[in-house]
Amino acid sequence: MVKSETGLDLIAASQLTLDVQTSLFERADQFLTSPGEIAQAGEDLKALYAEMGKLAVYFWFEEPSTRTVGSFDSARELLGLGFLGERNAKATSSTAKGESLQDSMRTSKTHLNLFGGAVVVIRHPKEGSAALAAAIHDFPVINAGDGQHEHPTQALLDMYTIRQKKGRTTGLTIAMGGDPRYSRTIHSLAEVASIQGDNELICIGGEGLWLDEPTKEALTNKGITMQEYLAHGLNEESLYMIKHDAIIMHPFPRGPEIPESVDNDPRAVYWDQMKYAVPLRAALIERKLIDHHNFKLAS
Ligand code: CP
Repeated sequence: MVKSETGLDLIAASQLTLDVQTSLFERADQFLTSPGEIAQAGEDLKALYAEMGKLAVYFWFEEPSTRTVGSFDSARELLGLGFLGERNAKATSSTAKGESLQDSMRTSKTHLNLFGGAVVVIRHPKEGSAALAAAIHDFPVINAGDGQHEHPTQALLDMYTIRQKKGRTTGLTIAMGGDPRYSRTIHSLAEVASIQGDNELICIGGEGLWLDEPTKEALTNKGITMQEYLAHGLNEESLYMIKHDAIIMHPFPRGPEIPESVDNDPRAVYWDQMKYAVPLRAALIERKLIDHHNFKLAS
């Protein structure tokens, strides 16, 4: 079987089945409550790969990032894995000289194949870039945001934050504001919420910014209830309209829709949301390396 048919890559949120989400959340819980557990996971991975060689996380970030690259890199460091790749590929790689993404990925494949195991984490301004990288690489590829398409690990992190703060992942009303039609974080979270099932989505935006009709129809067919509201960002006045037991999340970077005055509201949980990114992404890297090891043994 070729790697792209195995589900080893994480390109779109639709791959995050209920079982996958639950196992990642439970592993992240262990990492969160026992800080030494991530280092132990790294030791266990090295023992698993002892006969195969060194382990690394390969970064290819052709678009700016603070949180995604920082949390993946923190997870990598805590797991004790090597760093390879480019955190600022647009400026410091041959991309700046016009090299294609295909050639960059073919090149990194030749380097990575000297390693026993690796996970490739890619962010790119163009939709479909993560899938393109996955078709080239032998190791699992994780989409860290491809244009306006998807950001599946952000959606995992969002659902994990909801689970931490609300104690459940179903029976929720999730209001998603900004530009739902063009937001990769919203596309992926809507999908993850639909996989959880029995959730209501409210898209907040304006004419032309709500989800497109095929996406809405697909979500409705999965049992998601949809509503649309015309509204702008939050401010001290509109905070009064939000339920007292709601939580306010944001993937960041923030725009004018969430002024700093909102930070003082006890319902604002976005700093915790960022904190949860490291254990969750460590759990994902671990899962991908274990799955790839099993794939290599079977092939
Ligand atoms: N949430 C998110 O993707 O943030 P960065 O762009 O800083 O990675």
